[in-house]
Amino acid sequence: MTALPLQALVPDAIPAVRSTPDSLLGLYRRPSIELVRGAGLRVFDREGRVYLDFTSGIGVNAFGHGDEGIAAAMGEAAASGLVHTSNLYHTEPARRLADALTRLSTLDRAFFCNSGAEANEGAFKFARRWARELGGPAKHEILAVRGGFHGRLFATLAATDRPNYRAPFRPLAGGVSVVERDLRTLEHVLDGESVAALILEPVQGEGGVRVLDVGFLREVRALTRARRVALIFDEIQCGLGRTGWMFAYERAGVVPDLVTLAKALAGGLPMGAVLMSEEIAATVRPGDHGTTFGGGPFVSEVALHVIKRLADPALLEQVRGTGAWLGEELATLAARSRRIRAVRGIGYIWGIDVMQAASEVVRKALDAGLLVCSAGEFTIRLLPPLIAQRDDLAEGLSLLEEAVR
Ligand SMILES: Cc1ncc(COP(=O)(O)O)c(C=O)c1O
Repeated sequence: MTALPLQALVPDAIPAVRSTPDSLLGLYRRPSIELVRGAGLRVFDREGRVYLDFTSGIGVNAFGHGDEGIAAAMGEAAASGLVHTSNLYHTEPARRLADALTRLSTLDRAFFCNSGAEANEGAFKFARRWARELGGPAKHEILAVRGGFHGRLFATLAATDRPNYRAPFRPLAGGVSVVERDLRTLEHVLDGESVAALILEPVQGEGGVRVLDVGFLREVRALTRARRVALIFDEIQCGLGRTGWMFAYERAGVVPDLVTLAKALAGGLPMGAVLMSEEIAATVRPGDHGTTFGGGPFVSEVALHVIKRLADPALLEQVRGTGAWLGEELATLAARSRRIRAVRGIGYIWGIDVMQAASEVVRKALDAGLLVCSAGEFTIRLLPPLIAQRDDLAEGLSLLEEAVR
C-alpha cells in the first residue's frame, strides 16, 4: 500500500470551533469556550467574550498575558540563533540563571528541567544520592505531608495526597509515603537511619491553600537538621513572588536543603529548577541524572528576564501589601455571604471554602466573566497575576460574589 502524502492527512481549513470530542486526549474537564488572545489581566474567546483571568494559567503568568518585556526577551533569545543545544555543551544563559537563582535563594547549585513534577523527581534523586553517601542504601525513604501536591509522575504521585489521583495507577513508586502534617508525627517518623528526605510546600496550593505556620516550618527545619534528613521545599506554586516573598520560606527565616521551582519561572515557557546546598550537590556525579531540554539557552534567557523582575523589592512589597488588603476584602465578603465558610491565603494565593461544589462556582464565575480554579472539591483558588492592582482585584471579587450567590 502506498503511503498517503502528509498534506492529505491535514485538512486545509481547520474548523473555527472544533467539534467535540476532538482528537486531544480526554484528560481535562474543560468548558466549551476556546481562548484565542490575551492582554494583561484579560483573555478573549473565539466568540469575542472577555474574561478577567484570576488563574494566571495556574500560577504561571505572573505578569499577565501579552507582556511586552517577556515578548522582547523571547525575541532577543531567538535572535541569538541558539534555541537549543542539549546539555552536551555549556551556554551562558543557563550559567547566568543558575548564578541569579542561587544568589537569591542563598543555595549553591541549580539543576534545570522542564516542569514541576520533573523538578521534584530530580530533587528526590539528588536527596537520595546524598543520603546514600551518608547512611548507605537503607537511608532512602522520602516522606511528604498530608494535603501536599507534588506532581503526577510515579514518585511525585506517591508523594501527592490525592487518593483519586493515585488509586488507578498503583503500584506507585516505592519508598515514598505521605505522613500527617504535625510535629509530633514528624518527630516520630523522621528516623535518620531510613529517611532520606522530607518534602513539603510552605503554602499548600492544590491541597486547599494552606499557609503553613512559620513556627511549624522552623521546627521542621530544626528537626530535619538534627536527624540528618534533607528538607525539600516545593515552591513550584507558592514561590517566585506569589506570597510577596521571592521564596515563601523567607517568611519563616529558614533555608531548606533543596527547593523546587517551575510555573512562573520562565514567563509561560516550560521550565523547572532544583536549587540545592553544596553538601547535596557535592554527592551528585556526572550521569546521575539528566534531561535533553532542561536549561536550554532560549528558555534560560527568558527566565533571567522574569527572575530579575520578580525579585524587584517594589513588586514584592506591592504583593505583600495588596495581598493583605485582598485578604481583608475576602474576609468581609465571607462575613456578608452565607455561602462562604472560610478564606485562607497570603499575598496573591487565596482559597475560599464554599458551600456548593467548587466546580459549580468555577463555571458560574466563567459565565460572569471571571476565570478561577478550584483546589479540592469545595475550595475556590484565586491566583491573580502579580501585576493586578486593587481595582482589578475588586472587580474580580464582585464577579466572584455574583458567582457564589
Ligand atoms: C506545589 C506543586 N508541585 C508540583 C506541581 C507539578 O507541576 P507540573 O504540573 O509542572 O508538573 C504543581 C502543579 O500544580 C504544584 O502546584
